Order: sequence, then structure tokens, then C-alpha cells
Amino acid sequence: MRFLITGGHGMLGGDMAREIAAVPGLTVANPGKHDLDVRDGAAMRAAVGHAENGWLVHCAAMVNVEGCARDPEGARATIVDGTVEAIGLAKAAGARLFYPQTFLTHDGRSNPISETEDQRPLSLYGELKLEAQNRIEDAFGEDALIVVMAGFFGGEAADKNFVGRIIPAMHAAIQRGEREFEVGDRVWQPTWTRDLALNSLHLMLAGCRGRYQMACHGEASFAELAHEIVCALGWQDRLRVVPVDAASVAGNELGRRPDRAVLSCDRLKTERLDLQRDWRATLHAYLRHPHFDQFRFS
Ligand SMILES: NC(=O)c1ccc[n+]([C@@H]2O[C@H](COP(=O)([O-])OP(=O)(O)OC[C@H]3O[C@@H](n4cnc5c(N)ncnc54)[C@H](OP(=O)(O)O)[C@@H]3O)[C@@H](O)[C@H]2O)c1
Repeated sequence: MRFLITGGHGMLGGDMAREIAAVPGLTVANPGKHDLDVRDGAAMRAAVGHAENGWLVHCAAMVNVEGCARDPEGARATIVDGTVEAIGLAKAAGARLFYPQTFLTHDGRSNPISETEDQRPLSLYGELKLEAQNRIEDAFGEDALIVVMAGFFGGEAADKNFVGRIIPAMHAAIQRGEREFEVGDRVWQPTWTRDLALNSLHLMLAGCRGRYQMACHGEASFAELAHEIVCALGWQDRLRVVPVDAASVAGNELGRRPDRAVLSCDRLKTERLDLQRDWRATLHAYLRHPHFDQFRFS
């Protein structure tokens, strides 16, 4: 079976490619943005053969709340127009479409967020991702596989999310001789891309259809997550994480995010398809990667 991954060098796309390549009988192509730009209709049409009768895993997106707010036209071109191209590619290839959706299509007004909860994004990023999802559901109905995922970490140097940004920032604070580091108390489900990739592939191979939610077991505030990073990298005697009200951080942000967003993942559990693990265990496993040795003090 053939798999084509758009945005194949990103955090999720890279781990999806590794998981698929590890299964005998599956072939995967995971071009990066410069080899396959989803806004380029001709390039997308030329890539149809890579997904023939298989799966198109559509990871390419502008994945940045602030970036989307700063460049709304560029964000729409990548997220919505790029998804329209992906729909055309999947149809021409006779392929099924897998779409990783963001939990930021929810406003977090009620938690845990059930699968029947209306999606009401707070940011332009969430709005565009929801519009792309609607286009996919209009084109394929239940035949598409859409997984609403929690915020994630993974990809080592490719990680643009909280874990990828906070580690160098806290490391630099230690080097400046600072003893305390303030982090907001917004709550999410920090989920490892490796677990998301493995679990997503499991759903595709099981022939799942429609919409699911997927997140690690447990939940954490950003401050708790930062504290756990301090422990995992052996910085306990050097830096103390000080939790601060998320509202004090939100003031500096261009796009709004929910203060608390915890996905229920009910369908995954009911159908016995939940391969997720506890966030602390996966964070510690992730931070044992040699990439993070540069941040350890001997
Ligand atoms: N990050 C999260 O916490 C999260 C949570 C839930 C769902 N998701 C969804 O998961 C998917 C993957 O996100 P990610 O976190 O892995 O982001 P990522 O690391 O930024 O991966 C996205 C990839 O798409 C590429 N890309 C951007 N514009 C493109 C274009 N026009 N054509 C082709 N490729 C393009 C990016 O390349 P450049 O880096 O070179 O621009 C990047 O490699 C996205 O759909 C995202 O909405 C993310």
C-alpha cells in the first residue's frame, strides 16, 4: 500500500514517515515543502502516483497561531487552498485522505471536550484549519479520516512547539545565572508525535473512517510540563519553574487560545484503538534522545 505525506519533513510528517516505513509491505513518500508545495497544482498532480489506491496523509500547513495572524493570506493559501489541492490529488489517486486536525478548532468552554462538541476556534489558525476540514468532509464525507489531535512535542530540532522553544529558553536563562523561570498555567495534553503517528497508522490500517480525537493520557499545565523538563534534563538545582496566570502571557499573543483544552478521546477508547501513553513517561523517553545532550550540564 502506498502513502504520500505532504509536509513530510515536519514534526508529525517525519514521524508518520518513520512509522509507515517500518511496516513491511507499505511504501511511503514524504517530500518536504520545497519538493512538493501543496499550493502548486501542477506539482500536486504530478505526485498522484505516490498515493495511488493508498493514503494521502495531509500534514502540510502553516502551523503557527501567531504566523497566521501576521500573514492571513499566506495562511489561507497554505491551509485552505493547499487542502483543496490535496482533495484533488486524493481523488485522482483513488486514495483515502488522512487529516491531522488541531485541538485549537475548539474554544475550551467546556472540558473535557467531547466529540459532539461544536468546533468554535478562537484564532485565525483554528478557523482556517476548520474550513479545510469542512472542505474535506464535503468532498469525502465519512470516507475521510480526520483526527483531532492535542498539542504535541516531537521531531527534536524540528520542534517549533512549546517543548522545542522552552528548552533553549530555559537553558539560556540558566547560563545567564537566573534561578527562576516564569511559565503560564494554560492546560493542555502534551502528546508525543511518535505516539500520534503510530496510533494514526493503526487507525488507517484498521480502515477507520470519520472523525476521532487523539491525545496522551493525562493533562498538564505549561508550567508543570516545564517543571518536568527541568527534572528530565537534570536542572533541578539550577532552575525553578514559577507558574503564572495564563492571562499574563496571553496579553503578548496575537491569536487567542483556550486556557484549558482537554480532548475526551472517547471514540478511540470505546473502539479499543487507544495506543497513547502517559505524557510524563513519553516526555522522559523523548528527552533521552542525543539531540538534548547539548542542554545537559555534566
Ligand atoms: N503542532 C501541534 O501541536 C498540532 C496539533 C494538532 C494538529 N496539528 C496539525 O498537524 C499537522 C502537522 O503539524 P506539525 O506540528 O507537524 O507542523 P510542522 O512541523 O510545521 O509541519 C508542517 C510542515 O508543512 C510544511 N509546509 C508549510 N507550507 C507548505 C506548503 N505550502 N507545501 C508543503 N508543505 C508545507 C512545513 O514546512 P516549513 O517548516 O518549511 O514551512 C512543515 O514541514 C498540521 O496540519 C497541524 O495543523 C498540529
